[in-house]
Amino acid sequence: MKASYNLTTPNITEQLTPRPSTQFRTGFDVEKIREDFPILKQRVHGKPLVYLDNAATTQKPRVVIEAIQKYYTEENANVHRGVHFLSEKATQAYEGARSRIRRFINASKDREIIFVRGATEGINLVVNSYGRKYLQPGDEIIISAMEHHSNIVPWQILCEEKGTKLRIIPMNDAGELLIDEYEKLLNERTKFVSVVQISNSLGTINPVRQIIQMAHNYGIPVLIDGAQAVQHIPVDVKDLDCDFYVFSGHKIFGPTGIGVLYGKERLLEAMPPYQGGGDMILSVTFEKTTYNTLPAKFEAGTPHIEGGIGLGVAIDYVSKIGLDTIAAYEHELLQYATEALSEIEGLRIIGTAKEKASVLSFVLEGVHPHDMGTILDTEGIAIRTGHHCTQPVMQRFGIPATARASLAFYNTKEDIDALVRGIYKVKEIFGS
Ligand SMILES: Cc1ncc(COP(=O)(O)O)c(C=O)c1O
Repeated sequence: MKASYNLTTPNITEQLTPRPSTQFRTGFDVEKIREDFPILKQRVHGKPLVYLDNAATTQKPRVVIEAIQKYYTEENANVHRGVHFLSEKATQAYEGARSRIRRFINASKDREIIFVRGATEGINLVVNSYGRKYLQPGDEIIISAMEHHSNIVPWQILCEEKGTKLRIIPMNDAGELLIDEYEKLLNERTKFVSVVQISNSLGTINPVRQIIQMAHNYGIPVLIDGAQAVQHIPVDVKDLDCDFYVFSGHKIFGPTGIGVLYGKERLLEAMPPYQGGGDMILSVTFEKTTYNTLPAKFEAGTPHIEGGIGLGVAIDYVSKIGLDTIAAYEHELLQYATEALSEIEGLRIIGTAKEKASVLSFVLEGVHPHDMGTILDTEGIAIRTGHHCTQPVMQRFGIPATARASLAFYNTKEDIDALVRGIYKVKEIFGS
């Protein structure tokens, strides 16, 4: 089958070299999947929406939207506190979601699943609870050169307060971590390792299993930032043997404002509460408070109930499709997109690791990424431009920003073709 750009503009047609046959091996019925996402039917600026900003947030399937509506229509009550019918119903739905999430990442116990606002809050919880209690002046914390700001700044705040030091695993020009250099950083002063599983600005899939094993050889606990991973590849926290794992609901087709911190029970038990308030206590007097058991100890205040329920439904939805199926389809789509973009003169892909998922960051000679994003928007194409909350990555590559197209399993070859046409339009406008 010939690569089938849907070409309508003659002058653009001339500039596109037909690429070799691109028959997807995975028989994935993407059109059927798209039916589940009402927003994808929208037109933007009179053009069909091409949504390629999935690393920022994902769209929601109808089942998630309906679950939230059902919650407010039939179940709304505060959880854990009431003996009345609705409160019990809401509690069951909310705690049921916790169990679904536990199964999804293969944690051992529901009490190891802490609901938080998102990956950012999950990391801040670990830094403020574990870090404040167990890290001492002179201790070293290892992160990588491709971390999201949410896995840099909380550690820096801790370093200022406690006199601990940050050490950074460097990367090569492809955006792959240098594991030999990581080995050299590990020593008796290292007390924590915190690394992203899939980079949001490069798409690199890091060898986190190996990174964890190497840290464990020194008895060092490891947090994995899975914000860009759980929606793209199967994740098994027991197989990884990570000590902590965080992700955000809104990036896995669930609601915003809800996310997950997984922690090994032994560690969570040994950590002090992060926030105080209702639900996280067993008893309170003015003299002394005793804390609740896990997971309540880390969930002060009324939680994001419909968020948790919606996330549980989103996780059921992706589980039914299967993460292996999703990963295989997205891999082919990424290959297709990489080939298509590589053929554009003056375009440079930032992040060319051998192991990659879902993200295509690029720069185009003579065009600021922001202008690229603005022009693509007029074509109905949503991408992200900027530093993607990874300024050190931009510094490493000597660029101020990239344009980033990021994929989900509802994206199609036609979306990529539209992106390519859009980029040629940008080139025409800028004469580049
Ligand atoms: C790799 C990575 N980590 C952490 C985060 C923070 O996620 P949130 O803003 O949902 O807390 C993001 C968000 O883009 C991310 O891509």
